[in-house]
Amino acid sequence: MLVSLFKDIFANKTARVEEELDRAKLLVRDSQFNSASMILDALLQRDPDNASALLLRGAVKRLLNNPHEAKADLLRAQVLHADSGDCHFELALCYAMIGDTRQAIVCGERARQIVPGSAAAFSLLTQLQLPGDYYFDVLTRILGYLKPRTYVEIGVFQGSSLRLATSASAIVGIDPDPKIDWVLGPHMKVFKTTSDDFFATQDLGAELGGRSVDLAFIDGMHQFEFAMRDFANVERYCRRDSVVLIHDCYPLDEESAGREPRASSWSGDVWRLIVLLKKYRPDLLIHTIGTAPTGLAVIQNLDPGSTWLLDNRDRLYQEFLALDYSYLDDGKQIKLNLFPNEWAAIEEMIRTPSR
Ligand SMILES: C[S@@+](CC[C@H](N)C(=O)[O-])C[C@H]1O[C@@H](n2cnc3c(N)ncnc32)[C@H](O)[C@@H]1O
Repeated sequence: MLVSLFKDIFANKTARVEEELDRAKLLVRDSQFNSASMILDALLQRDPDNASALLLRGAVKRLLNNPHEAKADLLRAQVLHADSGDCHFELALCYAMIGDTRQAIVCGERARQIVPGSAAAFSLLTQLQLPGDYYFDVLTRILGYLKPRTYVEIGVFQGSSLRLATSASAIVGIDPDPKIDWVLGPHMKVFKTTSDDFFATQDLGAELGGRSVDLAFIDGMHQFEFAMRDFANVERYCRRDSVVLIHDCYPLDEESAGREPRASSWSGDVWRLIVLLKKYRPDLLIHTIGTAPTGLAVIQNLDPGSTWLLDNRDRLYQEFLALDYSYLDDGKQIKLNLFPNEWAAIEEMIRTPSR
């Protein structure tokens, strides 16, 4: 009898706490942070070791621009419930606000270890590790600076990057599943097919009105073999002074560098292409701009007459697919030719190609 009475009291108390937490969460969702904070203060006065309330109040305090107090709540929540990915992620956000990038990265990485698919932690970590302009802004500046007359893009998706090439009088996009919902200009063609099929059946030079490629952006299938063929095929239509950009060459971590296609947080194993080109194409100039989320390689000094990559494709697949991601554990920046994400340096690099 007494036992069941205690059980009932305990169940009622738990239900009330849950109710208050739910109310606070709803207020947070509606951006009523001060009201949520008052509920959580009262709850934590009665129940100071409630890890969920501490975590939520920490998040609220961060949202109220009080990262130091938020950190205190979150560290306490972490002691009580060490393996919460949310707690590590919130701590990472606080450290980032405070300006402690090193600790922010440690906490962000822990959040991703606990919840490997966390897109929010991926996004935060990429911005912390690759600060400066986002790839889209870097691409915008490169296009604005080079003003290509011919532009080729492999992997078009909604056409957001394709439509940046405003200087070009001939634009070719290639994508088996483009999602363009705007009207293409008369100088633009989008081929709804894979890049392999395109190069097997079409003549890129003819599609560009008999001209070579000024600038290409490779952003299609993020698997190494595809990126290698895309580069080799595009290079055939380049001049020595053309520029080829390759997206996703600087992966954040092994998780995002996996080979299985997925919708977000996926750079794939395109990084292997940089290692390959460095080893077997020393004639090329290779710089990987450290722009979030996953780096942007700039390849210069191209050789349209080179068929070496395609001629040796099978043995190259074998050699480079055997490379484990751990190859990058030591010296990733050097192995992938990381280049500073600073516009003055990028401008100098594309203006005067040099080693
Ligand atoms: C990351 S999106 C491109 C985003 C676009 N470049 C931008 O920055 O806005 C990748 C695109 O590659 C396309 N894709 C996948 N496999 C491909 C292939 N084999 N050849 C060409 N494009 C491919 C997908 O359909 C997808 O639209």
